[in-house]
Amino acid sequence: MLDLDRLLCDRARQVDASGIRRVFELGAKLSNPINLSIGQPDFPVPDAIKQAAIEAIKSDHNGYTLTQGIGALIDRLTQLIKLDVGWDVSGLATDSKTPVMVTSGTSGGLLLAFMSLLGPCDEVIIPDPYFVMYPHLATMCDARAVLCDTYPEMRMTADLVEPLITDRTKIVLINSPSNPAGAVLSRQECSDLLDLCRAKGLLLISDEIYDVFTYSESRSDVARGDQSLKRCPSPARFDGAEDCVLLVRGFGKTYGVTGWRMGYVAGPRPILEAMSRFQQYTFVCAPAPAQWGALAALDVDMADHVGDYERRRDLVVDQLSQVTEVPMPGGAFYAFAKVPEHLGITASEFVERCVEKSVLVIPGSVFSSRDTHIRLSYATDEASLMRGLSIVCELMSEG
Ligand SMILES: Cc1ncc(COP(=O)(O)O)c(C=O)c1O
Repeated sequence: MLDLDRLLCDRARQVDASGIRRVFELGAKLSNPINLSIGQPDFPVPDAIKQAAIEAIKSDHNGYTLTQGIGALIDRLTQLIKLDVGWDVSGLATDSKTPVMVTSGTSGGLLLAFMSLLGPCDEVIIPDPYFVMYPHLATMCDARAVLCDTYPEMRMTADLVEPLITDRTKIVLINSPSNPAGAVLSRQECSDLLDLCRAKGLLLISDEIYDVFTYSESRSDVARGDQSLKRCPSPARFDGAEDCVLLVRGFGKTYGVTGWRMGYVAGPRPILEAMSRFQQYTFVCAPAPAQWGALAALDVDMADHVGDYERRRDLVVDQLSQVTEVPMPGGAFYAFAKVPEHLGITASEFVERCVEKSVLVIPGSVFSSRDTHIRLSYATDEASLMRGLSIVCELMSEG
């Protein structure tokens, strides 16, 4: 009999999915839970976007595309990036120093970037709390994710990052607005991080998957490009940023098409070229019909949905802040709330109490070296949100 465990490599053994699996298992036992654990929008995908993908399938856009993405989408992204961050990007086939490439989801872009930059023992500095995938992506490259403790504000600033830089550091990875806390870095914080990375010769990866979900008070003026826009602050907008920033963005969250696996990356040519080689031999290309859908998506205004989420954010923070500490989320659709110390339990234990009352939230330990907070998603209908929130607040006030 084949010893299959013996065949697994160390890398495979190190990637542990038990935290998130435990939440799914708990949830599966409930017949009709109030689900505040969901990491995707609850609004319907706008029709124009669906129609564009359907048309693409009907018009036989079902085969492989160029590795870097279809020409029409590359052209549209070129305009968008120019307008938004002021970079002169173009497709990989040209000789521009800053190319753009369509990827299989934001995760695809991140994996290709890590594969291109990190070898055994190399280090990437990531925020703690972090998006679940980050440390595992480093492990998959035999590299090490160094956690930057950002509690209690959940903002990864240059001051916190600098002492963590070693000879092995290659990447500083920021995520703003962040998952799980919704933290949005200010313009000044972005600028300081960019200066630090430039001074130390590091690549600054900016995971901006939630950029469109940035709420009124956290938006700042676009420094270059169209001055009339207000957007999520980004390190990409400063002069010369294209030499040391890798911009990573997605379509899934913005337009509710997480299953389409669509994202894009732009940044320094040598890095994009390496990423494109890895894309060629792994994902091959992003799904063709979804690329046509994404092209249509770029003309759809999501402001009303973002406004709805901002209102829900206010409701959530208003309720939670009466019973615990919760850093004000400036974007995304999550709140990361502390389990009150007087309860004397871990966040995982608190989540079990929530599950007993049919409410699903995620314990901080899934996103962090600490088990002190819970992530609550407000990407759910308002009635369920309010019911779930009142149960969470009641449980936090006990004792
Ligand atoms: C911060 C962050 N980055 C990347 C991703 C991955 O996104 P995608 O579905 O586009 O691969 C997620 C998904 O939850 C996320 O929260």
